Order: sequence, then structure tokens, then C-alpha cells
Amino acid sequence: MLNLVLFGPPGAGKGTQSQNLIEKYNLVHLSTGDILRGEISNGTALGLEAKKLMDEGVLVPDEVVIGMISNKLDANKGANGFIFDGFPRTVAQAEALDNLLSSKGEAISGMIALEVEPVELEKRLLLRGKDSGRPDDQNPEIIKKRVEEYNSKTAQVASYYKEQGKFTSVNGIGTIEDIFTNISKVVDTY
Ligand code: AP5
Repeated sequence: MLNLVLFGPPGAGKGTQSQNLIEKYNLVHLSTGDILRGEISNGTALGLEAKKLMDEGVLVPDEVVIGMISNKLDANKGANGFIFDGFPRTVAQAEALDNLLSSKGEAISGMIALEVEPVELEKRLLLRGKDSGRPDDQNPEIIKKRVEEYNSKTAQVASYYKEQGKFTSVNGIGTIEDIFTNISKVVDTY
């Protein structure tokens, strides 16, 4: 199985590149942000709990997202592999993901981190904010909070995979096609 963690700060292009990757490698896309927004639009109790935190740009509790991923892995038995987009976002989530996969005899193949500088991230998210309808894209203060959450809680997840020899960074600035070509070169080595 091919199990990729696509990593990077808010607006780095994880969702955009995932769309190309799922087609090329026949993978299931698991985006915790998308799953949470689905819960919000369905008006579930989990969605109500998550909405307040997401609108403020802060992470939802580990146990909530770990439970969601566990359910999705069970629901997609027999998949060719997965792209984890926006997950794991804490070391506790990374450890839980390793445990979930190893209980099925699987493992993470590698983490690919998209490198994009903060000024470009803010520009992309504010530009998208007008059309996306995402409350967390509309306001520079909330975007700043999302980046702070990334720096304080998520960036260290890269070290977790570096220690396992599973980390590669890719320049996330350029055309979507060029970035995809560079990601594919890494995936083809797994
Ligand atoms: P989530 O939905 O994961 O949002 P995010 O990480 O902030 O990432 P984005 O979706 O905004 O960016 P992206 O990297 O996917 O970039 P995209 O391709 O969209 O999380 C939202 C919230 O949910 C979190 O704040 C948290 O509250 C909660 N949450 C989610 N997962 C969680 C977890 N595991 N634990 C706890 N809480 C969790 O691109 C962005 C824009 O840039 C687009 O407009 C795109 O068209 C454009 N773009 C893409 N590539 C390029 C390029 N090469 N050049 C120019 N523009 C580009």
C-alpha cells in the first residue's frame, strides 16, 4: 500500500496537489479539514463542536480527528492506499496514525512537505477567501492564528517523520503542474 502524508502550512497546496495524486496513484484522499466541514454542513454534534474552534483557527482535539481517521480507514478496506491531508497535525496524532496502520499490517510510506513562505500563504488564503465561503479564510487575524497553530503544534510533526527517515521537502511555489511533477518524482521512489 502507498500511504502518503502531504504536509505543509495552511495554504501550502495540500488539497490542490491531493487531487492530482489520487488520480495518478489511485489513492483515497483523507482530508480532516474536509471531513470536519462535512460534519458542520450536516449539522452533527461533532460538527457543532468543531465549528467554533475552526472558525477561530485553532486545532480541534486530537481524539476527535483520530476517531474520524480510524472510521475512514475501516470504511475503505481494500484501498490501494491513502493520502493524509491535514493529518497528522500533532505528534500525538502521528503516533496514533502509526498505531492504526500497524494494527492493519501497514505503515506510512513517506511524508512530503510543501515549503511555502508566510507572505505567499496569506496572499493565497485571502484571495481564496472571497470565493471559498470558509470563515477561516476571510480574516487576516484568523489566518495568522492558523499559521501560529501550525508553528507551535504541527511543524514538529516533520521531525517525527525525519527521525524515521521518511521526510522529503518539495518547493511549493511555482505552477501546480511543476510542483506535482516534483512530488511525483518523490512518490515514485517509495
Ligand atoms: P484544513 O482544511 O486542513 O486547512 P489548512 O491546513 O489550513 O489548509 P488549507 O486547506 O487552507 O490549505 P492547503 O494546504 O490544502 O492548500 P490548498 O490546496 O487549499 O483545516 C482547517 C481547520 O480544521 C484547522 O484550522 C483546524 O481547526 C481543523 N483541523 C483540520 N485537520 C485537523 C487535525 N488533523 N487536527 C486538528 N484540527 C484539524 O490551496 C490554498 C489556495 O492556494 C487555493 O486557493 C489554491 O488554489 C491556491 N494554490 C494552490 N497551489 C498553488 C500554487 N502552486 N500557486 C498559487 N496558488 C496556489
